[in-house]
Amino acid sequence: MGLSSEVVEVESDVSSGLFRFSVVGLPDAAVSESRDRVFSAIKNSGFRFPRQRVTVNLAPADLKKAGPAYDLPIALSLLSTTGQLAFETGKQIFLGELSLKGEVRPSNGILSVAIEAKRKGFSEVFVPSENAAEATLVRGLTVYPVQSLQQVKDHLEGRARITPLPPFSFKNFLKSETSYAADFAYIQGQEHVKRALEIAASGGHNILMSGPPGSGKTLLARSLPSIFPKMTLLESLEVTRIYSVAGFLGKNNSLMTTRPFRCPHHTASGVSLVGGGAYPKPGEISLAHRGVLFLDEFPEFSRNVLENLRQPLEDGVITISRAQGSLSFPAKFTLVAAMNPCPCGYASDPERPCVCSPGELLRYQKRISGPLLDRIDLHLEVPRVKYEKLSDSAKAESSAAVQERVQAARGLQEARFSQNKNKNEARKTRTLANSEMKNEEIREFCVLDSASAALLKNAVESFRLSARSYYRILRLARTIADLEAASAIKPEHIAEALQYRAKEN
Ligand SMILES: Nc1ncnc2c1ncn2[C@@H]1O[C@H](COP(=O)(O)OP(=O)(O)OP(=O)(O)O)[C@@H](O)[C@H]1O
Ligand SMILES: [Mg+2]
Repeated sequence: MGLSSEVVEVESDVSSGLFRFSVVGLPDAAVSESRDRVFSAIKNSGFRFPRQRVTVNLAPADLKKAGPAYDLPIALSLLSTTGQLAFETGKQIFLGELSLKGEVRPSNGILSVAIEAKRKGFSEVFVPSENAAEATLVRGLTVYPVQSLQQVKDHLEGRARITPLPPFSFKNFLKSETSYAADFAYIQGQEHVKRALEIAASGGHNILMSGPPGSGKTLLARSLPSIFPKMTLLESLEVTRIYSVAGFLGKNNSLMTTRPFRCPHHTASGVSLVGGGAYPKPGEISLAHRGVLFLDEFPEFSRNVLENLRQPLEDGVITISRAQGSLSFPAKFTLVAAMNPCPCGYASDPERPCVCSPGELLRYQKRISGPLLDRIDLHLEVPRVKYEKLSDSAKAESSAAVQERVQAARGLQEARFSQNKNKNEARKTRTLANSEMKNEEIREFCVLDSASAALLKNAVESFRLSARSYYRILRLARTIADLEAASAIKPEHIAEALQYRAKEN
């Protein structure tokens, strides 16, 4: 259920009567079909299937069960009821889909299952061998990787023990190196864009890049992951849990160590972006948790789809309500959007004339809502690169050098927010970066001296900035100060932050 799990007890009964095999306890289609799989798996593993009235009950009965992961426990329960398997139940969790031959297939969400198993006091989990690595993240749990029904039976009867997986080594996590496809070193010029991306990465600020075709917006956005700070273990675990439930963790992978970078196409539907469905699954915004959500060709996204982003951008979680109750997925991501200033693309180019009519221009700009633009901290023009810069043979600063500065700034932020532990615990997700600061935190950490305050007052009055813009500038100024390791915000930090505000049309 979302990112959490519930323990389900499987019991079975065989009584005299005509042959019938029923599964009760609110099963969905995939669970009901498990009858055919279990029947064949039991037969083909060399066991006997009772030719009588067979009833399998999944308790609690009021919880809707979905997916094929109940195959293995149903088969084991039947073997034990018919006297073909004797073992003591009570301390193990079994899970897995069965093939007709009796092999165990991979399932989604093993990490959530392992966490719940530990919480409820179980000591052993039997999970599909392909996914078993994720369960080792939970300490104090014996994880048995399972390949077939026969193998589990042999283990339970003590004939051939399955070797449990060793616990996850968190030491290796700290040493893990990540490599990136793109690097800042190969992007010529665009120093001010790189500076803005550095600020965005340091504080997790949302950014919108606008410029003529071929100016390098997509290239710059795609190289952003290479300057992001390394994921902390806590962040890794949060992201892993989401990817485990979505089934995107990959074979034999236990932990997500690289920050997510998601770039959905502009034909994406609302549900694929924010999550949902009859059995709610995380969408792109949750898959981008603690990473980057890149929306290229921003105005081409349907307006209704984009409006869905408003609430999660503010709260960092998406809550999906269903008749059975509501559940939420974390969605703290950095939004990176790229667009052309007008349909022909050259409205902002000083040398190439724009051929769009005022009507076309207006219609284009109206595709993105004001409230959404108001949630973006950095608005940026990406101009065409001049020939001298492009042909320059000198290499630009590498991503690794920029990342070092970003890492230092993020370190300062983490230290600052960890002092506020009590306040953090009251909330659902912790504040880790400046962009996530709530108003009371801004009041505490963004204290201005009189010169900075005067500058900001002047700007708010002359540019008629909204209350949200005011706080946004303070957050941004905090990040710019952190990049310099300055404890107080100075006028130059405010001045730079003001440059990145949205331009009125
Ligand atoms: N500053 C740069 N340094 C090196 N190469 C660049 C630079 N800017 C652009 N390029 C080259 O130009 C190509 C096109 O850039 P990119 O796709 O990022 O443009 P864009 O701004 O996204 O254009 P569009 O608005 O059409 O989507 C890139 O693949 C890259 O090879
Ligand atoms: Mg592009």
